[in-house]
Amino acid sequence: MKRHPALVPLSHDHHHGLVQAKRLRASAHGGDARAAARAFLRFFSDETVEHFREEEEQLFPLVAESDEAREPLVRVLLEHQRLHALAGRLAAQVEAGAPASELMAELGELLEQHIRYEERQLFPLIERLSPDLEPPVARDPAGPRAP
Ligand SMILES: [Fe+2]
Repeated sequence: MKRHPALVPLSHDHHHGLVQAKRLRASAHGGDARAAARAFLRFFSDETVEHFREEEEQLFPLVAESDEAREPLVRVLLEHQRLHALAGRLAAQVEAGAPASELMAELGELLEQHIRYEERQLFPLIERLSPDLEPPVARDPAGPRAP
């Protein structure tokens, strides 16, 4: 599906997030789970935290008054909180020694289905409810955070 230009940087982040989520799940039962968990946590703090902030502060408010958007927004906001909570638990486990494979798998799974929900349900809804999105809703694609 063709993304509105204003949402392209966020969708680009989603692609990175899917790669990282799959990697985390795959390493949950692999050889060096601790290194994999560390790499994921670096990605989470370097990119995901800011990504959530952009969605919450710039994008979601555009449709916050819409009844139709209420349920999807509640869902994704709660998922953002759960992802923060799971990442915090994983960081504590890494500090303490070995991260639990169940937690790594759960975090990877939640991030993956969260991203798929935003891409398949929420972003199309926002595009429909708010067709006059002005780039940059988030970043300038040529800005410093672009890959
Ligand atoms: Fe997102």
